[in-house]
Formats: sequence, C-alpha cells, structure tokens
Amino acid sequence: MDVFVGITGASGAPYARRLVQALVAGGHTVGAAFSSAAPQVTGQELYGDLRMPRDEVIERWLADTGLPADRLFEAHDFGSPYASGSARWDAAVICPCSMDTLATLASGAGSNLLHRAASVALKEDRKLILVPRETPLSTIHLENLLRIRRAGAHVLPAMPAFYQLPESIEDMIDFVVAKVLNLLGLEQSLLGEWDAGITPS
Ligand SMILES: Cc1cc2nc3c(=O)[nH]c(=O)nc-3n(C[C@H](O)[C@H](O)[C@H](O)COP(=O)(O)O)c2cc1C
Repeated sequence: MDVFVGITGASGAPYARRLVQALVAGGHTVGAAFSSAAPQVTGQELYGDLRMPRDEVIERWLADTGLPADRLFEAHDFGSPYASGSARWDAAVICPCSMDTLATLASGAGSNLLHRAASVALKEDRKLILVPRETPLSTIHLENLLRIRRAGAHVLPAMPAFYQLPESIEDMIDFVVAKVLNLLGLEQSLLGEWDAGITPS
C-alpha cells in the first residue's frame, strides 16, 4: 500500500512516529510531511526540547522511523505525488491532526501538502483518516469533525483505551496506531483481537 502520513502541530508526535515505523517495517510505500508547526511539537514530545532546530528534529525522526530521507516531503512541495489525484497512491492519514488543519480541511481550503493530500483523497474517493487531538472540544471543532466525516473522512480520535490493560505509554500509543492500521485494512501485530466476552469499541 502507498500511504501518505501528514503530521501536524497537534500533540501526538509519538503516534506519528510509531505509525510511520510500523508502515515502513511492514514494507509499505510511505510518503510523509510535517506541517510548519509539527517539528516544534515533535522536538518537545519526542526529544524533550521545544527549541530543538528543525533539521535536528528531522534527522532524529528519520533515524527513528526508518523512513528514507527522500520520502519526507517539504510542507509546500506540491510537486510531490501526494499533491496529485493522477498519482496512484492509496490513502492519506493526518496523524496527529490539529484543530487548525481540521478547520482548513472542513472548509475545503488548503495551503500546504497535508491539506492538498487530504483534499485529493476526498475527491478521488481514497481513504482519508484523521487522528484529531484536542480537549475540550468547542462547538466549532465538533461541527468541523461532523462536516469532514460527512465528506467521507474517517475520524479516529487519539483516544487510547484501558480495557486491554496497558503497561506502558508505548502500549497506549500502539493501541491508537493499531486502530489506524486496522482502518487502513492492514495486518498489524500491535494489538491483539479483544476476546473477553464483551465487545468494546
Ligand atoms: C506543545 C504544543 C502542543 C500543541 N497541541 C495541540 C493540540 O493537541 N491540538 C491542536 O489542535 N493544536 C495544538 N497545538 C497548536 C498547534 O500547533 C497550532 O494550532 C498550529 O497552528 C497548528 O498548525 P498545523 O495544523 O498546520 O500543524 C500545540 C502546540 C504546541 C506548541
């Protein structure tokens, strides 16, 4: 599968890193892009430094994920295949998805590659998964989520569960990433099937 992963400046950089790691390890073709806000949040959440220079964040992130450098596209690289409906990629995931990016997508506007790839996925009827992160949610956020869902996107909030008895933060990250992989229709081993006589969602 050929998947675009767009990373915004919402909290949740560990989800994006794990998702890209899993896709790369699974042998999938992955293209990724950070929004202009995302490297700062990634620097803070993965490397403990909100002021880490962007290039250093990117270098460490590429080493962590195993993504080849030429598969990380600039935020405004509209020459990337993921900016085009004629290129035959399969799905786009925006993970994590900020409320700013959500609002942009819900309005049909766009100014960067993440917006464009999501918009292409909608117009071409390809899978689009948004992993929003914000709390609490305003009426505007909720209306935007409903609007984008009605337009065909899957809304998969970054909401780890506890019924599988997570033992670490990594287990909680894996829960959300497994849900994304399941929704993409991919085999995953991060989360087993729930089998305790009840069917939580
Ligand atoms: C440490 C940090 C955490 C943030 N967490 C969130 C968040 O969880 N959700 C959100 O919508 N914005 C969050 N923001 C704000 C976004 O980064 C900001 O709104 C930005 O404009 C998003 O732009 P983008 O969607 O292009 O990445 C956070 C910012 C920082 C610095």
